[in-house]
Amino acid sequence: MSRFEGQVVLITGGGSGLGQAAAIKAAKEGAKLSLVDLNEDGLQDTQKKVKEAAPEAEVLLLTADVSNEEAVQHYVNETVKTYDRIDGFFNNAGIEGKQNLTGDYGSDEFQKVVNINLNGVFYGMKYVLDVMKKQGSGSVVNTASVGGIRGVGNQSGYAASKHGVVGLTRNSAVEYGEYGVSIKAIAPGAIMTPMVEASLKQMGGEDNWEEAGKDFVSSNPMKRFGKPEEVANLVSFLLSDEAGFINAAVIPIDGGQSYKY
Ligand SMILES: NC(=O)c1ccc[n+]([C@@H]2O[C@H](COP(=O)([O-])OP(=O)(O)OC[C@H]3O[C@@H](n4cnc5c(N)ncnc54)[C@H](O)[C@@H]3O)[C@@H](O)[C@H]2O)c1
Repeated sequence: MSRFEGQVVLITGGGSGLGQAAAIKAAKEGAKLSLVDLNEDGLQDTQKKVKEAAPEAEVLLLTADVSNEEAVQHYVNETVKTYDRIDGFFNNAGIEGKQNLTGDYGSDEFQKVVNINLNGVFYGMKYVLDVMKKQGSGSVVNTASVGGIRGVGNQSGYAASKHGVVGLTRNSAVEYGEYGVSIKAIAPGAIMTPMVEASLKQMGGEDNWEEAGKDFVSSNPMKRFGKPEEVANLVSFLLSDEAGFINAAVIPIDGGQSYKY
């Protein structure tokens, strides 16, 4: 039997990168999908790839800004209206924001990054956990980052928001365990997605970003970027019933980078 047979998986940031890879993996394993993103073209692209990988998969696409509480309530309501339940929630949409020293980090930029990465994750949990509590089951995976468990530098907004995601995860996990709901976070290191490509272009420029990338991973114990599919494998396991007793854990997936002295 497939891992997600008869189950509904809701993914934010489903139009690109880690969200897209997780959508393809969950669909291959039998999930009915509800995919949320600000970028409509990205959602269409994911739907096409999902259908190639799993032609029978049911896919609901919802364009929404996760930093808008009403929009979050709407995407949760629409998912429940369509499928009647939510079994897995990959609460993943996020942005990196511009890199800068704290003194030069724009206050508007800080607010924007926190609104999406932290408020968006909070709103998502607020409405999805209600559904899961009533069901008496469910699994939530929030996307934190190595920047949510270590100091990386030049990322005030990102670091604050991702450390916040870790705190929210632990707090809600302690509250909802008794209702049969588990909540965990992943802390990815550098995974080659459009977000990381954009970040390398900030560091190395349009012409030199691939060189900047090689330099960037030279300090990783595995000397390479992670692949979105590797993260999708972890997320799929964590969202499934097989990981039902993993609760409040923050799991790095970074080639060992965050443990290196
Ligand atoms: N790629 C990495 O190396 C890495 C490392 C650590 C953490 N992360 C985290 O993983 C998550 C996914 O990142 P990714 O690398 O796949 O990036 P990505 O840019 O490829 O995908 C992110 C998706 O989120 C969507 N999004 C952005 N703001 C949104 C909003 N306000 N409302 C709805 N959707 C929105 C984007 O449109 C995009 O489709 C993010 O939370 C990111 O911080 C990524």
